[in-house]
Amino acid sequence: MTATETAVPLLSIKAQNEGLADEIKAAVLRVLDSGAFILGPENRAFDAEFAAALGAKHCLGVDSGTSALELALEAVGVGPGDEVIVPSFTFIATATAVSVLGATPVFADVDEDTLTLDPRSVEKLITKKTKALVPVHLFGQPADMDALLALAKAKGLAVIEDCAQSHLAKYKGRATGTLGDAGAFSFYPTKNLGAAGDAGAIAVGGEALRDRILELRNCGRGIGSAYHHVRVGHNCRLDEIQAAVLRVKLRRLPEWTAARRRLAALYRERLAGLPLRLPPAGGGGTEPVFHLFTVRTERRDALAQHLKKHGIGCGVYYPLPVHLQPAYAALGGREGRLPVSERASREALSLPMFSELSEADAGRVCDAVRAFFK
Ligand SMILES: Cc1ncc(COP(=O)(O)O)c(C=O)c1O
Repeated sequence: MTATETAVPLLSIKAQNEGLADEIKAAVLRVLDSGAFILGPENRAFDAEFAAALGAKHCLGVDSGTSALELALEAVGVGPGDEVIVPSFTFIATATAVSVLGATPVFADVDEDTLTLDPRSVEKLITKKTKALVPVHLFGQPADMDALLALAKAKGLAVIEDCAQSHLAKYKGRATGTLGDAGAFSFYPTKNLGAAGDAGAIAVGGEALRDRILELRNCGRGIGSAYHHVRVGHNCRLDEIQAAVLRVKLRRLPEWTAARRRLAALYRERLAGLPLRLPPAGGGGTEPVFHLFTVRTERRDALAQHLKKHGIGCGVYYPLPVHLQPAYAALGGREGRLPVSERASREALSLPMFSELSEADAGRVCDAVRAFFK
């Protein structure tokens, strides 16, 4: 790196928020001035606006993506003794959401191309105890929903989509999160739509499921009642301040998504021909949103070192598949059982990707990658 060049970060929340600082501050002040902090007008407006953005019937804000998964799974009836099939190559919350309900996550392998839940692996793992599937639209790539929904239908299973990384991604014309029984979204600050802290939401199509989630997220209160509790619930409400911030940012999400897609196209073009596996471009019914642009190479660690030496940020998502995490040692996951997930953990490297990344900087990333393989 020469003295005049600045480093290219893997991502930058600051770059995104800077341009919106006045609007975000005004939104926060509006809530402070109103004195309505819990389940007020910002929540109601955000729920409606996010549902409209997805084309979902209903959308319910919650306090994190993890809570979104937990409540959605609980609402479809997952509990002690049940099994839920999840991909092993994901963030661990996909699995822990199952465990905290007293159910058992059963780890399936992912598809070599999309790194999302492989229906062929899922099929082999379905038992009498299986209650649900959790496809994860990892890195913003839609999972093979036709095959997964067909399997679920044939076996009477619920489908909860983990959309923590797939805001506005589409599968055959429909937004991820609207294809299964419910879609769990995270607004962790680094996500494609990020709050100013923890936040999440659940998209749901049916009224009965919506009402169960409304009760579960608000201490089991019957809808509209203050101290009448119809079930044992949780406190997983979305803060009004976060809802207000999210409303500002949601308005930009389509343009930010378009920028990510342009950058992904640039990467694909400029990295073509290298011994690297690139993420699918989309097409054939899928419209990915490139939460991360994750390439794969057997020389991953050396490439990461080379990029860092040249001032290019990069990250390993995820270095250990969940079935091999110490947290799940008791389930007996062994190396070799899920070969694609294990290989992906050894080979995956995410390159800089955020909507404010300039084409010039993305070009520098490509030059540095090309130089490595020369
Ligand atoms: C795939 C996936 N699932 C679930 C989560 C959990 O979301 P949160 O951090 O908002 O609880 C995340 C985010 O970190 C994620 O990437």
